[in-house]
Amino acid sequence: MNSMKTGSVNSIEGATRATTKDGNDALRTSSVNRRSFLVKGLVAGAGAAAVSLTPWRAKGAGGLTPGDAAILRFLAAAEIIETDAWQQYNEFGGIQDSEVPGGTGNALYSTALSVLDSDMAQYVHDNTEDEFTHFDFINAYLQANGVAPVSLDRFRTLPSSQASGAQQIGRLTNLMQLSVDTSWWTRYRSGSKNPDFGDTFPQAVPGLVQGQFPAIPRTDADTAGSTKKKPSTHLQAIANTAGFHFAMIEQGGTSLYPSLAQRVTHPEVLRILLSIGPTEAMHFQTWQDKAGNAPPLTDPTNGLVFPDLNSPPFGGETFQTNLIMPEPTVFLDRKFPVCSIVRPTETEGAAMGAVNFLTRTGLFVGQSSQFFATLTQLAQAADAA
Ligand SMILES: [Fe+2]
Ligand SMILES: [Fe+2]
Repeated sequence: MNSMKTGSVNSIEGATRATTKDGNDALRTSSVNRRSFLVKGLVAGAGAAAVSLTPWRAKGAGGLTPGDAAILRFLAAAEIIETDAWQQYNEFGGIQDSEVPGGTGNALYSTALSVLDSDMAQYVHDNTEDEFTHFDFINAYLQANGVAPVSLDRFRTLPSSQASGAQQIGRLTNLMQLSVDTSWWTRYRSGSKNPDFGDTFPQAVPGLVQGQFPAIPRTDADTAGSTKKKPSTHLQAIANTAGFHFAMIEQGGTSLYPSLAQRVTHPEVLRILLSIGPTEAMHFQTWQDKAGNAPPLTDPTNGLVFPDLNSPPFGGETFQTNLIMPEPTVFLDRKFPVCSIVRPTETEGAAMGAVNFLTRTGLFVGQSSQFFATLTQLAQAADAA
């Protein structure tokens, strides 16, 4: 089973590294040893960090262990997907310049976004630019270490929005039928629960996860009735949806990097994960603050409700919009004092968990079975590292 997973790392998306049977056997053995060492280290209360930095596996020809390569390849894929989504947002609502080329902007959508913050166009642009650099860097690093970079170009099959501002190219992600999960809002406000303990969290905008909603205008009909001074309620609902989706995406990255960092072996690969991951948290923190400025409304076209998060039955510690610092909560074991932390950070199954979560939220509606197969292979290989 292990050899199958390892083999899949090296065969998908044109990777060229060969893995011998002996190499696979060594990988399986060292993986078990390392895990038990980590557990012992944690129990002893010391030495876990030193153990996790030790390169337990024999390096392959390219200088990366198969596990480190698999984790980086999955992260490259995740960043390509993130970039595809952000690029669509930028084409409509970001600053249009040579740093993030492609679209022509949509003044009406930009106006609706600016209701959340007057600097939204700048932030959308900068977040998009950051995502391009994340996958560019990881792919270049893979290549420098003899591992094929990840490309998802053959899956750019989804249609672009027909609204003014978008370029007409194939997309990886669908921002027009999203079921945005807003439980991150209450998860970071809970002082007694943690998703790593199996706890679940109420939605900030319950309607969003129960249907399929656009986060960008689908056609110019979605911006009709808006002016550069006053967006229609429908267009504001689309911008609000985007505002919550921005934070949903970036909190995912905030958890993914520390979750996977626990299983890389080479200090330099760890450095990459520890240096990119916190930028996702910087994005998340910004977007969390802006989502709280989304005006309460009911979309007259579909009944989607954005509640007033500061008034009953919302409000209080669970919903109040200015509570954007992570509330200290339980971590590792309830016997310890609460701690202000990123959540979740469980490493077991983290990559597949991310794929399943994004799939549930509608980001890939319309994608081919080959796309899901490729993404699953990449995620399973990372989780097997
Ligand atoms: Fe990223
Ligand atoms: Fe990100």
